[in-house]
Amino acid sequence: MVPQDDEDDRSEVDLDEARAWLEMFFTEKPRRRSDFETRWAEVKTEVALTGSYTQTFAEIEWGARVAWRQSVRCIGRGRWQSLVVRDARHARTIDEVAQELTEHLRFATNEGRIRSTITVFRADGPNGPRVVVANDQLVRYAGYSQPDGSIVGDQRYAGFTSMLRDMGWRPPAQPSRFDVLPWLIKTSDERPRIVPVPPAAVLEVSITHPTLPWFAELGLRWHAVPTISNMRLRIGGLDYSCAPFNGFYLADEIATRNFGDADRYDQLALVGQRMGLDTGSDTNFWQMRAAVELNTAVLHSFRAAGVRMAEPAAESALMAEFARREESAGRRVFGDWSWINGHLGSVFGPSWHRYYDTEEPNPNFWLDPARTAEPRLP
Ligand code: ARG
Repeated sequence: MVPQDDEDDRSEVDLDEARAWLEMFFTEKPRRRSDFETRWAEVKTEVALTGSYTQTFAEIEWGARVAWRQSVRCIGRGRWQSLVVRDARHARTIDEVAQELTEHLRFATNEGRIRSTITVFRADGPNGPRVVVANDQLVRYAGYSQPDGSIVGDQRYAGFTSMLRDMGWRPPAQPSRFDVLPWLIKTSDERPRIVPVPPAAVLEVSITHPTLPWFAELGLRWHAVPTISNMRLRIGGLDYSCAPFNGFYLADEIATRNFGDADRYDQLALVGQRMGLDTGSDTNFWQMRAAVELNTAVLHSFRAAGVRMAEPAAESALMAEFARREESAGRRVFGDWSWINGHLGSVFGPSWHRYYDTEEPNPNFWLDPARTAEPRLP
């Protein structure tokens, strides 16, 4: 055993997990066995001396890709090997962190030809996270509570919005339904601070419909890149609490969930009515028909704007192909059926017709309990 330092209650890195990870890394990225032995000895020594170790860029790069490959809720994992990994472990101050987040958005957005990207900040230390972004995604819209109890904007973020206002954030002079929320960033050396998101870093798409001209009157828009910023990346016994990552949208996430859900933008009945459907009926499938038009509009608008977007049939086929490749490589296919198939139209794809291994081994992405509700600082 390694001697404990009494001065601080540092929790040692789990050496079994570190070793298992290195074994996996050296097996999947074939190198000489002696290289493994050298690296393993190095890691053990560093942990003995400091309680932790520093991963190489190659380890983080492969670890992040494997974490994606093993993420049970993602249907787009067929692209795991293409993940671009950005090393931002040098960022110390809130300003430096914000700069890296901005660069992440710029690089990932790529004028619409979205690149799946992750930016990895400093690993957690003995006292927990060293860098934290409270926001659950890098781009989200404010929700403003009105005196009559209604909410203008994204209802899900009403609590976060009012917390930011209490901390001093000033919404635009004319608040809208689609005001990008600022970042709330904290580092181990600085108190939490609000940083505005540079507008130039946020690509957005206005929603219109290919055949229903009135759709534009709904005034809907959405941001191009979903960048999840509240999940902890765990590789080889190390935690990276700040490691924002993005893929690109599946139409349904915006159309059915964000626009359709009653506790988000709640647009289904409105769209149904504009379509002339009786929204009181339980025999005309008005919700589904409204959702289909919403999906049509979102997919059409994104593609017309040159912003990469997936649709469920192709995505389901990609998932099936991914599963086939994993199995032929002798690996288990991890997946949560209800998330994989949670999309409008997934019943028509091949991924509907099988189950997946629900285990969640590391490397993986974790949503800590303190962060599952509305965004806040852990
Ligand atoms: N469903 C989330 C949203 O609407 C995004 C989750 C990640 N999606 C993705 N395609 N990578 O913002």
